[in-house]
Amino acid sequence: MKLVLNLLGFVFVVGVCTAEPPISQPHWNDQNQNGKKEVYQDPRQPIEKRVEDLLGRMTLEEKIGQLVQIEAKPDMANSQDEFLRQGRIGSLLGSQAIEKPGLLNRLQRISVEESRLGIPLIIGHDTIHGFRTIFPIPLAQACAWEPALFERTQTISARESAAVGIHWAFAPMVDLARDPRWGRIAEGFGEDPWLGSLDTAACVRGFQGTNTADPDRLVACLKHYVGYGAAEGGRDYNTTEISEYTLRNFYLPQFKAGVAAGAGTVMSGFNLLSAAPASANHHTLTEILRGEWKFQGFVVSDWGSVQELIAHGVAADGAEAARLALTAGVDMEMLSTNYRATLGRQVKDGKVKVTVIDEAVRRVLRVKFAKGLFEKPYVDENMCHHAFLKPDALALAREAAANSCVLLKNNNHLLPLSRRIKSFALIGPFADDGRNLLGCWSGRGRAEDTVSLATGLGAKLAPGVALTVVRGCEPAEGWQLIPQLDGTKIFEHHASSGHESDIPKAVAAARAADIIIMALGEPASWSGEDSARSDLGLPGHQNELFDAVAALGKPVIVVLINGRPLALPHLQEKAAAILEAWNPGAQGGNGVADILFGDVAPAGRLTASFPRSVGQVPVYYNHYNTGRPNLGQYVDGPREALYPFGFGLTYTTFEYGHVALSANQLNVDGTMTARVRIKNTGSRPGAEVVQLYIRDLAGSAGPHPVRELKGFQKVQMNPGDSQELAFTISERELGYYDVNGQWLVEPGRFQLWLAKDSASGDPVAFEMMEARNSVQAQH
Ligand code: NOJ
Repeated sequence: MKLVLNLLGFVFVVGVCTAEPPISQPHWNDQNQNGKKEVYQDPRQPIEKRVEDLLGRMTLEEKIGQLVQIEAKPDMANSQDEFLRQGRIGSLLGSQAIEKPGLLNRLQRISVEESRLGIPLIIGHDTIHGFRTIFPIPLAQACAWEPALFERTQTISARESAAVGIHWAFAPMVDLARDPRWGRIAEGFGEDPWLGSLDTAACVRGFQGTNTADPDRLVACLKHYVGYGAAEGGRDYNTTEISEYTLRNFYLPQFKAGVAAGAGTVMSGFNLLSAAPASANHHTLTEILRGEWKFQGFVVSDWGSVQELIAHGVAADGAEAARLALTAGVDMEMLSTNYRATLGRQVKDGKVKVTVIDEAVRRVLRVKFAKGLFEKPYVDENMCHHAFLKPDALALAREAAANSCVLLKNNNHLLPLSRRIKSFALIGPFADDGRNLLGCWSGRGRAEDTVSLATGLGAKLAPGVALTVVRGCEPAEGWQLIPQLDGTKIFEHHASSGHESDIPKAVAAARAADIIIMALGEPASWSGEDSARSDLGLPGHQNELFDAVAALGKPVIVVLINGRPLALPHLQEKAAAILEAWNPGAQGGNGVADILFGDVAPAGRLTASFPRSVGQVPVYYNHYNTGRPNLGQYVDGPREALYPFGFGLTYTTFEYGHVALSANQLNVDGTMTARVRIKNTGSRPGAEVVQLYIRDLAGSAGPHPVRELKGFQKVQMNPGDSQELAFTISERELGYYDVNGQWLVEPGRFQLWLAKDSASGDPVAFEMMEARNSVQAQH
């Protein structure tokens, strides 16, 4: 111990005096001088004891090192080796070096075997909706209204990522989003905090399993804390202004659910949140996350978001940026290196307390111990050859693609397709395309592993049935966002590629076919990070293509491939059927074909409203009422969404009976039951998603939305079947948060719906009796 203290003293002096002090110390990583393992090396010891033991041995430089995350690059020959040897890098961001387990092992080996204390690196990566087996984008999967699907897909994503040496997924993205102009709406679950919370928890379970130390699992990261989805104008990284009340009731609940599910880490956002940057926000990062929710893991900044505090105008230089972020509660700095460059000096100058650094280091070490990195720091370099695209992963990707589809229109039961049809024309820029099916975070997914719509459809056809595939036009002609080496994207103009000549070809194919399917939408690169749109229609010449084909007067089925709600009133008017398939992932073609032919019944429901025009945005179902609910219309069009939250058709019809309540009065701590009988009145089996909405007519702490989703049941029913569904209602469904995060359940009048979507059904009324100040429940 004396030696340690001496060393600490030595390094402390050297460390704060030079920018990059040479640290040449005896190694502690295997055994102490008596040949015994130290406490921190002993997996039988409790994690907290190991953390304290290790922290007690660390120099200031080594502590700060744990708070540094840099990017591992394939060409990173030896440039960072000395830092690793000195214990001055705690984590790697694997983006470019991923699928190079040899490189990651080499860097890990330096940390573990050549640094003084042998603290392993934690390696993170953007595994968002798959690694090699790409699943539908999260917004699509959310439309399955099946949180367990997320648990299953993220389990596979974790397994494939872990096989190349990743320990940590920068996911799930749990930002509530109401603005489809924002490209990152694709990465989240939509506009509802209740359903989003279930999806969040399911993702965390999928990544982490019951024990994150399992080598097939990853540490999850809830991002981007918080409010990022409310970017003004939908422009990425933009300012957000969110009242504390709305933050508590809409933007925080998913994060809270993820923390409750045990997520190991949280990522702080890029945005200014009500004039305080999310990455230097003591209120959200410390008071709420640690104080109220007791989060024990660590917070990583977003890519350079510590450095960006300077551009935000709150920090004068890197030192101030580091100080603001760290003291607000950002434990690890991603990419920029202000922590490494300035914190040592700031401790010496008394500007940053070493206790603040100690606490941040504790949080990082806690996660590393929990992940089992000290026991198993390396990856088996051969594992990845057997881990990808396994049959269970492909089967799940197909199931997820089908279950994510939402049927938006189906005139005259045009769908499902009959197997007696003799000729098909599949037209459109996404007809035979792999890349765009994968979506915005396609990990290491490859176009050649992807089943296109043409292939999926073709596989369903009997010999002799004709399938003519014509591209018709490019997905988007003209301007394109081109990624640059420094990570930015530049809008460049690209010449059109012959669409004029393809449209007549498409029309000829359509004329000759019995059935016309058009695959329209937007390129995958038009959604995701930094891919905002100011128009929500079909880009390029797709409308022209559609109009030319529709002018034949034959029914047209549209399959939409896109990463956000689009505004397509023209298609709603002119197409005979519309299937929203989103970016459906590697098995997209098969999953969509399963739906088109009725082998799987469409069961998806929208989790984000589709506007009629970009001018309506934001349009979302769970808005507050106005003082003049019947006024405030547009003079030039309706104000309701084209397709509301919860909407989706089936191949059959469901009839709803009257909604009956077990009582029309309820005590604050009591429960009641709402029942409805539903019947499959059509001629095909189908799945109905019966949705429970509640409205509290008056709240003392603030208003309640005109409707809030508080439950659902997805039921599979054969033609003629009828079933009574029961929903239990208690304070969990009836409460809300005040600005202090207290869960309030208040007496008064309520309305309840059991309905097909957020815009249909008739409310029944009930009353909550008995005053009570507040009920602090587990929310
Ligand atoms: C920036 C993105 O905002 C974030 O979502 C991602 O995890 C990081 N880059 C790391 O790539």
